[in-house]
Amino acid sequence: MCGIVGMVGREDVVPYLMEGLKRLEYRGYDSAGVAVPGPEELQSRRAVGRLAALEQKLLSSPLSATCGIGHTRWATHGEPSERNSHPHMDAAKNLAVVHNGIIENYLELKDTLIEAGVGFLSDTDTEVLTHHIARKTADGDFLDGFRAALGDARGAYALGVIHRGEPGVVYAARLGSPLIVGRGPAGLFIASDVPAILPHVDQVIYLKDGELARLSETGIEVFSLDGTPQSAEWVKVDLEDHAADAAGFETFMLKEIHEQPRVIRGLLEKYVPGGKEIHLPDLSMSDEVLRGIERIMIVSCGTAYYAAMYGRLLIEKFTGIPVETDLGSEFRYRDPKIAKNTLVIAVSQSGETADTLASIKMARGAGCPVLSICNVAGSSLVRESDHIIYTRAGPEIGVASTKAFTAQLTAFALFTLHAGKVRGELRAAENAVLLRELQDIPNGIHYVLGREDEIREVAGKHHEGPSALYLGRRFNYPMALEGALKNKEISYQHAEGYAAGEMKHGPIALINEYLPVICICTETEDEVAEKMISNMREVDARGGRIIAIATQGDTRVDGLAEDVIHVPRARECFSPLINVVALQLLAYYAAQARGTDIDKPRNLAKSVTVE
Ligand code: M6R
Repeated sequence: MCGIVGMVGREDVVPYLMEGLKRLEYRGYDSAGVAVPGPEELQSRRAVGRLAALEQKLLSSPLSATCGIGHTRWATHGEPSERNSHPHMDAAKNLAVVHNGIIENYLELKDTLIEAGVGFLSDTDTEVLTHHIARKTADGDFLDGFRAALGDARGAYALGVIHRGEPGVVYAARLGSPLIVGRGPAGLFIASDVPAILPHVDQVIYLKDGELARLSETGIEVFSLDGTPQSAEWVKVDLEDHAADAAGFETFMLKEIHEQPRVIRGLLEKYVPGGKEIHLPDLSMSDEVLRGIERIMIVSCGTAYYAAMYGRLLIEKFTGIPVETDLGSEFRYRDPKIAKNTLVIAVSQSGETADTLASIKMARGAGCPVLSICNVAGSSLVRESDHIIYTRAGPEIGVASTKAFTAQLTAFALFTLHAGKVRGELRAAENAVLLRELQDIPNGIHYVLGREDEIREVAGKHHEGPSALYLGRRFNYPMALEGALKNKEISYQHAEGYAAGEMKHGPIALINEYLPVICICTETEDEVAEKMISNMREVDARGGRIIAIATQGDTRVDGLAEDVIHVPRARECFSPLINVVALQLLAYYAAQARGTDIDKPRNLAKSVTVE
């Protein structure tokens, strides 16, 4: 999603802005730009495509100043093009604005501006807001005019603004879209997230919704929208939480896939300190409250939603609490029946997903306690939650989520075992066995990573077709969905995930000798495995090309599957943590064979901060 960086420095800020934009690339973008005060008017350079295009423009037509703003744009209003890219300026080039979010009433504001004779150069809501701010700030105090303009805007924004009247000042404002302010030896910064300015700041302020900031050589002032000065809290930046490099892997995604055994082991060591008792320090939920929960509603988006589906199965099986799941974008627009004793769980890697955030605000409005399973400390989601389980996966830079997902599954497992025990649904002995098996999962993942070459070969055989079908049952049904999503996201091969039992209700019509059908059929303790084998026979009978994810030593798939990826034996409820790693690698090598930009797939954003 769009990225913002801005700076008030002691030396030329343009190299810092460009570095910040590079560090924001992982969020996804289709154009970029920077603006600084010039000798007479504000000046900008903008380019469509990768940052290299903007760098070229700056080489042939350099900019230099001690204050400026920059932006990477992920198109919402209007095609990716230079004229739609940010910063936007007013006609007199007195004001330049970078914006993340969506101004919902931009058409209304635009009509008023058109009546006043303002002309438009782009299709964007941001240009409308820029002209509106320019008009409101034309006379009088800039901050007052800026506040008034923001008061007229409906929707979500994170803004960076410079204007000609104060050439050494950057203004920032936030409502609904994340924005931070930071300080370090080189100067003061604004950014849409910490990694953008990580090498240059030691401390940051997470601006709250409805706050504005003014950065100048004298320091940082924070105000509320009504102009009242705010005492903002400086937070020390923890390098370990944010630092990331590809560590010799060809992509961040591959590195992150390989990090999974370490991430899950680390999570288990942190939350099971002596190896036997689960201790979730940020859950901060008394046993009494946990016993009083009558219902759970899990809300999330994308990959995190598949983690929610897994969490539901696990919690229902071992705690006896009825659980529902919903997509953030659906939940927020329905009339969910939630009450004080409904625990709402939000799952999110970034903690900034707009629909997930809106959902928990709704839940809090209804008086429900909110538990967040989240990877980013200080994120909006964490700050809005009563209870937290950090997934501690470290920064995930690849747009397609991998290690954050398996960390979410682990967090659900730990919460479930803890809740099952507290509520008396899981006996101590059973709990101990389950915990031991969970602690063995990183070894299982290691084993799968060791079969990478084999998986690459399988992917190489099946990546060419137009489509692929992924089938799974029960705990592995959400993994079928996740496997298909990973494949779509990075290889652009169309893929469908299905509950295997549903296949004969429709998708069976797709099966022919060209369709790869990826079947997760690892052994289970009951009849589900047999059912899965029957579903595979149905595929086989129609000539489909089966790729099976099967338990080592299980011979039932022999003769049915064209290719078998063997995984180690694991209890069914924990097997998804291993099986999904095989699916991640399958998608990865299909994408590699298809020559896509794996870390930054087209059209995708790392954190979706707009609806
Ligand atoms: O940051 P979040 O976990 O809230 O993000 C949710 C989805 O946008 C995200 O999982 C998305 O589906 C990824 N591209 C998955 O790879």
